[in-house]
Amino acid sequence: MSTVLDGKKIAADIKAEIATKVERLKQQGARVPHLAIIIVGDDGASHTYVNGKITACKAVGFDYTLMHFASTMSEQKLIKHIHQLNEDEDIDGFIVQLPLPEHISVEKVTEELSPAKDVDGFTNQNFGSIFSKHPLLLPATPFGVMELIRRYNIETTGKHCVVVGASRIAGAPLSMMLTEEGQATVTLCHKHTMDLAAHTRAADILVVAVGRPDLITADMVKEGVIVIDVGTTRVKDSSKKSGFRLAGDVDYASVEPKSNMITPVPGGVGPMTIASLLLNTLRAYEMRFESTEV
Ligand code: GUN
Repeated sequence: MSTVLDGKKIAADIKAEIATKVERLKQQGARVPHLAIIIVGDDGASHTYVNGKITACKAVGFDYTLMHFASTMSEQKLIKHIHQLNEDEDIDGFIVQLPLPEHISVEKVTEELSPAKDVDGFTNQNFGSIFSKHPLLLPATPFGVMELIRRYNIETTGKHCVVVGASRIAGAPLSMMLTEEGQATVTLCHKHTMDLAAHTRAADILVVAVGRPDLITADMVKEGVIVIDVGTTRVKDSSKKSGFRLAGDVDYASVEPKSNMITPVPGGVGPMTIASLLLNTLRAYEMRFESTEV
């Protein structure tokens, strides 16, 4: 029987730990961490994710500010708001929800964020700090995957980890973390990889972060594999009240019986990403005090 890696439960544990710290701050009369979220446009999925982040802030007792702008907003105006948040003493961390409208360059905008407040861990400075002895704010999704691995005591040292998907948000930084912190042997597969199944079949730990439902089927994994599914794609489902359901990149029904451990979708990596965002916000808050200590 495969162990289900319950990201929802681990995320709830992390949130309870953060809530205890916030309660202590309040008792000391200190202000609490404050996260700001910028969202541009009306993409339904993005608004759902942002609502999840706000609910999580409320649950742990963080302050939050939501800034919603029209999809016609100029890149220049967005950068102006980012500069204001960089300077705002009340804000400890902030994120710009992706995707952005096509006329706005994600790369350009991201580099305008102060790395000390970049709680998504997207700036080059934070991304690069993965290979530092003192990482700053780590990218939230891979940080969440690593935390799940740690809390389930999954051994990665010397294991063959195959990561499918080389995005800057998930696969690329995760492959770096598994190499550096995880001491694993890592294969990073991407859209040009030839014979994907030959690689995935060799995996002791298989992480998939592509966004293509059911990309990984039972014939593509070996017996006893540990599977971590980062995919969350909205697919139409008329049996649901919302009209859709979230689908992972792994064909769970066929892969689960061959696996030793596996994450469900939803309830696996998704909640861990939000928990990581909260951990990063708390860390950004704490770093501000560390940097003012004499
Ligand atoms: N869009 C999808 N995932 C993310 C994320 O982790 N952060 C931001 N800012 N946008 C996203």
